[in-house]
Amino acid sequence: MNPIKHVAIIMDGNGRWGLKKKKSRNYGHKIGLNTVEKIIKATIKNNIKYLTLYAFSTENWKRPKKEINFLFSLLENFLKNKITDLNNQDIKLKIIGKKKFTKKLNNLLTFSEKKTSYNKKLQINLALNYGSKSELINSFNVLKKNKININEKNISKHLFTKNIPDPDLLIRTGNTQRLSNFLLWQLAYSEIFFERKLWPDFNEKDYNQILFKFKKVKRNFGNI
Ligand code: IPE
Ligand code: IPE
Ligand code: MG
Repeated sequence: MNPIKHVAIIMDGNGRWGLKKKKSRNYGHKIGLNTVEKIIKATIKNNIKYLTLYAFSTENWKRPKKEINFLFSLLENFLKNKITDLNNQDIKLKIIGKKKFTKKLNNLLTFSEKKTSYNKKLQINLALNYGSKSELINSFNVLKKNKININEKNISKHLFTKNIPDPDLLIRTGNTQRLSNFLLWQLAYSEIFFERKLWPDFNEKDYNQILFKFKKVKRNFGNI
């Protein structure tokens, strides 16, 4: 049975879900947040140490202002209401991506990271304004500027995910089979599970089924 240290998730399908319910895309985002809470709980139950959630990509800025503003107001309220609770559950929050939001949100994110920085039960990496290509370019530039050798170890050391083991598995909900600029380097040997359900419909049982399947995969890493 494969051990699981790190699960990465592309939480996709909120907009379509909202429209399917004859409501707005934003309604889908709101309900999608309930799934986030369920999956965090299930991750702890499964004793998994790292959970990386793709919440906003560098490409998502192309969306209408109304949707972008709604997403960030959801995030702001979530952190305001839940950070104490997350902290009490011994959860550490880390933002991966460039923190280039309003001053208020930047401060709240930094505050939330600091408040939870010593926690040990579960580390949640929240990918916000995250793009894998820009993350890699930044790493290469740091190495070049400091005349450091370009090798696997040094490249990894200058990514947002430094000191975090690579994801064992990636789950993408929403019936779409692509990576959308997510963790291109870190997913080199991850098992990938594409899930048909839209994110708000995804539940603990679906998650556990994927984890169970993952545990039985023969991982070769190039060997036989
Ligand atoms: C949520 O799903 C992911 C975010 C960018 C917040 P989407 O908003 O992409 O939903 P669909 O794929 O349009 O249904
Ligand atoms: C990926 O979903 C980003 C997040 C889940 C945050 P998108 O819905 O933005 O991906 P594309 O644009 O359809 O590839
Ligand atoms: Mg989408």
